[in-house]
Amino acid sequence: MGGGQPNDKIQSMPAPIRPTHLEINLSQLRRNLAAIRAYVHPAKVLVMLKANAYGHGLMGVAPYIAPYVDYLGVAILEEALQLREMGLQKPILIAGGSLPGQIPAYLDYDLTLTISSPLILAAAEQAAQQAGKRLKVHFKIDTGMERAGQRWYEAEALLEQSLSCSHLVIEGIYTHFANSETIETPGMILLPNYSYASQQLERFHEVLRFYEKRSLPLPPLRHAANSAAILNLPESHFDMVRPGIIFYGIYPDDEARRVIEIAPALTWKSQVVYSKITQAGSPASYGSLWASDHAVYTVTIPCGYADGYFRRMSNQPKIIVNGKKYPQVGQICMDQVIVNLEAETAEVGDEVILLGQAASGEAIQPQDLAAWAGTGRYEVLTNISARVPRVFVEK
Ligand SMILES: Cc1ncc(COP(=O)(O)O)c(C=O)c1O
Repeated sequence: MGGGQPNDKIQSMPAPIRPTHLEINLSQLRRNLAAIRAYVHPAKVLVMLKANAYGHGLMGVAPYIAPYVDYLGVAILEEALQLREMGLQKPILIAGGSLPGQIPAYLDYDLTLTISSPLILAAAEQAAQQAGKRLKVHFKIDTGMERAGQRWYEAEALLEQSLSCSHLVIEGIYTHFANSETIETPGMILLPNYSYASQQLERFHEVLRFYEKRSLPLPPLRHAANSAAILNLPESHFDMVRPGIIFYGIYPDDEARRVIEIAPALTWKSQVVYSKITQAGSPASYGSLWASDHAVYTVTIPCGYADGYFRRMSNQPKIIVNGKKYPQVGQICMDQVIVNLEAETAEVGDEVILLGQAASGEAIQPQDLAAWAGTGRYEVLTNISARVPRVFVEK
């Protein structure tokens, strides 16, 4: 078939949204959550919804899942405000750092503040006092991540200071692991370091002993476990766990114990928008970096690096067209990519899967895209741009 020729099939094609879209199976997210819940019981579950629900679309995911979680977690204040604007009443922890000037918003919207330093503790107490309210806070203890948080060997001073803060509700205390999963970095794979994680855990216990030594009740929510720790370090579950990537059905790495049954909920779909014969020696796309030595049948897909399909993957990815994997060829453009089908096995309008599983069983996983892009699977998910519509289904 020649490029762009109208025919009967084209006339009957539904085109309600952009052909390139993410289909999110909300029921699968709920099944993943149920599997996590059953595994960590009786610990509570905070689901991490930061970064547009790991790319899955906060607006669709959050209201659907909120009734089934104990806590919602985000990284920044704006994400929490989005959740409140949706009308969600659940407790929300903002895990990232905050500035004193942001604290009034926490009070206005009943958000939970992470306290990482004596400075923010004092600012929180002062702001709550001025507002005549009590503010919910969780202490963040740095046990070896060296990012943000009161370092474990200085934690006692912070906890001591908090004893005189009558306008704060000390609801939680937490830490975060630096090496509980494999880190996929360009040209290097860093395997998890469980002995470092155990050392972090020991430091966290040491900090918690403050309460025992003073005969004071512990903050009711002690938490530490991200996805990898949920799977690999059951001793880190405490009162609450904080799953991110496993809630979305993706294992944090290839090493994590498969102790729960989860499955991805996301399929990145598109359709063929153009097809043609590319002649032998006729180079394709910017820079003319690819050409075939024989005539081949190629198709064009309306998805590119502006959608989060990394340009640096050019010439490496496989793309599923009509249930079979084919090579992407030439430079990935801002809005389009070319796929070499060799023979005429697809036409305009046919189904394309860039990420996820086809009905045929063929699948492209986030870790595949990560390997082609020289990054980690987390970045693959969060990099899918806002331009890609999210379509929510239940199945
Ligand atoms: C503080 C905190 N807790 C939990 C998570 C969830 O991590 P994961 O997606 O590995 O479960 C994150 C994500 O980076 C985080 O920053």
